[in-house]
Amino acid sequence: MQDYLILDNQIVSQVYARDPLVISGGEGVFLYDIDGKKYYDFSAHYSSSSLGHNHPELIKGIIKQLSTLVSVSVQFATRERVALAKRLLLLSGENYKKVLFGVTGSDAIEFALKAAKYCKKGGVIVSFWRGYHGATAGSAAATGKAETIQIDPSITSLLPSGFVHVSPPYCYRCDYKKEYPSCDLFCIDFIKKRIINDGYDNIAAIITEPIQAAGGVIVPPPGYLKALKKLCRELDALLIFDEVVTGFGRTGSFFASQHWDVYPDIMVVGKALTGGYIPGSAVLMTSEVGEAMDKLTLHGHTHSAYPLMCASALTNLDIIENERLPDNAKRVGNIIIKRLQKMMGKYSFIGDIRGVGLLIAIEIVQDRDSRQADYQMADKLYSKLREAGIITELESSPRLESSVIVLHPPLILSEKEACEALDIIERVFNEIKGVCGVRS
Ligand SMILES: Cc1ncc(COP(=O)(O)O)c(C=O)c1O
Repeated sequence: MQDYLILDNQIVSQVYARDPLVISGGEGVFLYDIDGKKYYDFSAHYSSSSLGHNHPELIKGIIKQLSTLVSVSVQFATRERVALAKRLLLLSGENYKKVLFGVTGSDAIEFALKAAKYCKKGGVIVSFWRGYHGATAGSAAATGKAETIQIDPSITSLLPSGFVHVSPPYCYRCDYKKEYPSCDLFCIDFIKKRIINDGYDNIAAIITEPIQAAGGVIVPPPGYLKALKKLCRELDALLIFDEVVTGFGRTGSFFASQHWDVYPDIMVVGKALTGGYIPGSAVLMTSEVGEAMDKLTLHGHTHSAYPLMCASALTNLDIIENERLPDNAKRVGNIIIKRLQKMMGKYSFIGDIRGVGLLIAIEIVQDRDSRQADYQMADKLYSKLREAGIITELESSPRLESSVIVLHPPLILSEKEACEALDIIERVFNEIKGVCGVRS
């Protein structure tokens, strides 16, 4: 392990380095490191590996396509891309009429932003602090998470202008110090105030994740997304939902927007579209947006609509439906949330447990009264969990003013596996409590 880590450090860019692990295999909900140690994969490749690792049916579907047609330029239609577009439109309740295929979530977001600007003849894009939308220029400009590109003065000039960031519905840490429901969704009114008072008279779109994932699993309160859509209509702006993390069953419904019965004008999906085995993304558009965009001739990437990607996505969708994985995510997710909530009675460093389906947050605080984030404790818990055999995602930074351990295991996670993993989590929490003592 050490030899690979040293070499990796020397010859591979360390912009994405964090964990001192060399991963060499995976099976179901488990990953294996090069020394053969087994880990519960509660990060699932940032919500991509929804079917877990080495899924035999998905692999079969991909292998079949390998001997049919792997790649062809986007100028040609293929059976695979037509079939996938048809399937996605059907799945999304026929709210959309056209699909554009991309390679990554970021480039699909880039197209969605382009579409909004094109349809509204310019205008600004409103997005949310804590939101994450990607690493390319436009998607990074929409991102409100203070990643390097937003804060390092030597590269911020790469970000396009025309983006306005507003406060997300993070009720645990409301920026307006209000409480739901007595707040009467003041945060929505404030978006309108901000836009009007800052003199923006053309709003191309408001973009949001229905549940902010990398921002710390921010679940909007009831009525929020409906009110956001109403605001878009008032402002004559399009609504874009970024379902790159939340799509394809993660939250217990096929798309998170279905929980609140709110349908945007543009929906962006990626990650788990293909089960995570082949990179791929898609933008679903209403007929108004889709037809307008047909007039544009230049958008695409060499590997957009890759037939192998389409085949992987079609097989993945069959598996999700046949195995009723959204139902499983809801059921097993509820078991995890309930058990974690119970643990709150024992561990005062847990400030909040929230989530929907298998997208779950453990918010780490210094104490429950102040709700001050505890960055050191979160770091320690994250490392100890990994050492104990659970890989999670850590979203913790003073800029975010929060420390959150995110659990998003593959959707195939069984109740038994969930309980075993929770036993390990509880054991780690106990050890930490023993070392750190009890705080109120
Ligand atoms: C909500 C959301 N949107 C967009 C993206 C960008 O996707 P990609 O990393 O595939 O470019 C991500 C990536 O994590 C994401 O979490």
